[in-house]
Amino acid sequence: MTQAADLLDPAERLDLDSLRVLQLERLRNSLRHAYENVPFHRESFDKAGVHPDDCRSLSDLSRFPFTTKADLRENYPYGMFAVPRERIRRLHASSGTTGRPTVVGYTENDLSMWADMVARSLRAAGGRPGDTVHIAYGYGLFTGGLGAHFGAERLGCTVIPASGGMTSRQVTLIQDLEPSVIMVTPSYMLTLLDEFERQGIDPRSTSLRVGVFGAEPWTEEMRREIEERCAIDAVDIYGLSEVIGPGVAQECVETKDGLHIWEDHFFPEVVDPVTGEVLPEGERGELVFTSLTKEAMPVVRYRTRDLTRLLPGTARVFRRMERVTGRSDDMVILRGVNLFPTQIEEIVLRTPGVAPHFQLRLTTRGRTDRLTVRAEARPDADAAAREAAARSIVQAVKDGIGVSVEAEIVDPESLERSVGKIRRIVDLRERRG
Ligand code: DLL
Repeated sequence: MTQAADLLDPAERLDLDSLRVLQLERLRNSLRHAYENVPFHRESFDKAGVHPDDCRSLSDLSRFPFTTKADLRENYPYGMFAVPRERIRRLHASSGTTGRPTVVGYTENDLSMWADMVARSLRAAGGRPGDTVHIAYGYGLFTGGLGAHFGAERLGCTVIPASGGMTSRQVTLIQDLEPSVIMVTPSYMLTLLDEFERQGIDPRSTSLRVGVFGAEPWTEEMRREIEERCAIDAVDIYGLSEVIGPGVAQECVETKDGLHIWEDHFFPEVVDPVTGEVLPEGERGELVFTSLTKEAMPVVRYRTRDLTRLLPGTARVFRRMERVTGRSDDMVILRGVNLFPTQIEEIVLRTPGVAPHFQLRLTTRGRTDRLTVRAEARPDADAAAREAAARSIVQAVKDGIGVSVEAEIVDPESLERSVGKIRRIVDLRERRG
């Protein structure tokens, strides 16, 4: 079952051959744009012995070099930009591995394309012009809030820019303002459902009809639970700041069979995470994106570290990606916030009273994922020093990474070691499937 053709935008109505022609033309332009305007890309193309003119077919892209998060970090903050600073209309940032965030920029046209892609996503999710959309993704440097916001406005919806947090107020807003669509991380949706029930309100009785959930991995079981508990359609939205933000891929409500990648703007490949070799459709590996139309910060074969596989299109001509099943690095996603153990390490290293031996324990309490930083005390640290260290770690993580955690200072040498190494991440979260 596909949507009535008049609801789709022109690119969604292309046939596969025309789509491939459009992609090749855009890919060649984008590679040229990157090569001519970003010294990093010029050098890496030259080093690999390739020139944008060598891209004569879509499969030629595999000859071009990858870009990694480390490359973005090394070119912090503006080194990857391909247009003069005065053409940048907005900056966003995502957390990086060393405390340095990754800064991304958008021209006027980029912001417009992004709004179009989120509008398209929202429409695929079942949203329509005139709907009221409650946005509980965080607003700010994170792309979730503002990305969803301008997309919903672009579709012609009324936006409730609730942002994250203040759970009981969220419930009041939903009760009073009667949104039909909610955009939020799936884990926070579960928290909202609990809050509805705590207030004695049946979540099935709300005005909500569609939920657009992403920014973190979730499962079929969570979908089933959310759909049953509040009588909505729950669909998956995927994206990452480096590529644009939310709205890179979206699940269609009529099929709920994985996410259609908006590949008229973002060209996907799946590669072997170890060898970098391009894998055929259907095989699991690491997702890689090349932007086709971005002006401010074109990306060439950007390694997302997300593991998935590509599948043929169903409800749309565009290929689908299976829901993201994991990552090929050690990034932890806690309630939608990305963090790396190295960021915690930096904080532990500068905290008096603790040794640089720590472990991150992820657990689920009630409905919420919790992170506890367990660090070993220095032998001379007394109870007061330990308590001060725990407080200081909690505060530093909140200030530096923007997420609430707990800290526990344990006895020296008490964290379990295997071949001398402490297991950095102990993930005991209930995966809800
Ligand atoms: O999380 C953008 C976003 C906001 C997407 C709101 C969807 C909704 P970043 O902070 O740069 O951007 O984090 C990107 O989050 O590489 C994935 O590992 C993970 N991620 C995003 N969406 C999903 C999803 C935003 N639907 C990183 N399923 C990505 C699983 C997701 N993981």
